[in-house]
Amino acid sequence: MKQDGNTQGAVAPRDGFSSRFGVFAATLGSAVGLGNLWKVPYMTGANGGAAFLLVYLLATLLIGLPVMMAELSMGRKSRANAITTLQKLSPSQAPWWLVGVLGMLAAFLILAFYSEVAAWIFAYIAKAISGRAISSDPAVTGAELAALIGDPMQSLLWQWLVLGLIGGILMFGVTKGIEAVAKRLMPLLFVLLVVLCAVSLTLDEAGAGLAFLFKPDLSELTTASVLAAMGLAFFKLSVGMGTMMTYGSYFKADQDIPLTAFRVMCADITVSLLAGIAIFPAVFTFGFVPEAGPSLVFITLPAVFSQLPFGQVLMVAFFVLAAVAATGALLSLLEVPIAILHERLHISRPRATLITLGLLALPAAAAALSQNLLSELQVAGMTLFTLFDYLSSNIVLPLGGILIAIFVGWRWGWPAFSDAISNGGELRNLRLARVVFTLLKYLTPILILLVMASGLGVFQSGA
Ligand code: PHE
Repeated sequence: MKQDGNTQGAVAPRDGFSSRFGVFAATLGSAVGLGNLWKVPYMTGANGGAAFLLVYLLATLLIGLPVMMAELSMGRKSRANAITTLQKLSPSQAPWWLVGVLGMLAAFLILAFYSEVAAWIFAYIAKAISGRAISSDPAVTGAELAALIGDPMQSLLWQWLVLGLIGGILMFGVTKGIEAVAKRLMPLLFVLLVVLCAVSLTLDEAGAGLAFLFKPDLSELTTASVLAAMGLAFFKLSVGMGTMMTYGSYFKADQDIPLTAFRVMCADITVSLLAGIAIFPAVFTFGFVPEAGPSLVFITLPAVFSQLPFGQVLMVAFFVLAAVAATGALLSLLEVPIAILHERLHISRPRATLITLGLLALPAAAAALSQNLLSELQVAGMTLFTLFDYLSSNIVLPLGGILIAIFVGWRWGWPAFSDAISNGGELRNLRLARVVFTLLKYLTPILILLVMASGLGVFQSGA
């Protein structure tokens, strides 16, 4: 339809994704990141194992996937950043663009703590090279991580190294370069994970690890953990905050959106499960605790590497690949505010990047220092690092998800949605589109609302 006409002007200075595989790689690059290697394992460990994983998978399928398809189609239709997309597509004057503003807020919240975890990953490349952190003794690997996190200087330095690197990539506009690198390195990460799984499965307590991961005990679930699982589904697929809208705006007109979204979801889940299989047998074999929290991966994986021939080399390789995975996700997080500033304020991309990094400086430093200097500063019993994580995944992303679902179901409407998702009727996917639309219109908002309300304790009487 008209989408390639007058709207093209806005997108001209931006790189569009050039090939179908490029689209897939970039979208997957946003989804796959520290979420798979760090968040899914530690949250599964902290929330009782398989039952949590099951709820997370259900939420991904019933909520995350439809919202992802909605965002991608909206972005491709409007060919613009998240705020402008909602303005363009909204048939009324209602301030739907606020959803884009909310997305920008989520981007900063997530970037603040995500860049710090990425900093640990980069620091671990150096640790692996020096051979320091590699050991099967929980006391040794735990102390190594604590020394890094507890040191304000190191935390900040590594964080700004990471942010400088990502900013540089975005500023010089070599997204193609990063895309090309990611395309080659992602399969390597996959292979290395499979090797780690194979080793982990030979460990003495592999059975206990697998049972923890795959044998659900529903009594482990609480309303808070169900909310956390749903938040994780949003975080994992990078939805609820306009990332996928922004990426959708770079999609080619003939890209099959449902198929791409489905493939990204499957690949993303696979990587998470592989990470779990690599980690939990080691947890049970070497006497780590599954509830270790955010430190879990950093203290358990070195133990698995310590059991491997050439373990040190492989550990370096692993953290390099994890850094690449984190980079793809960080690029997509930064792209949300950068596209907004660049297009709406008509400033150059380098300038938009600098402004974004400037705005990020304070929250990012707060997250880094909340592990050491500012550890006393707590809100609702959480450090700032934990608070940013909690607020973004459990409140802002689900809220964004509800609003996007309501927008598509009740405002944008069936004719526009089905036209966008079927590439103007070219794809014969009307039945699928119907199902997705119905989910978005009724089930998604109600389900998110219920899970949020119960997870936040709205239904609790008294206590
Ligand atoms: N999905 C990414 C990960 O799992 C994180 C992310 C969240 C990226 C939201 C973009 C937007 O690491």
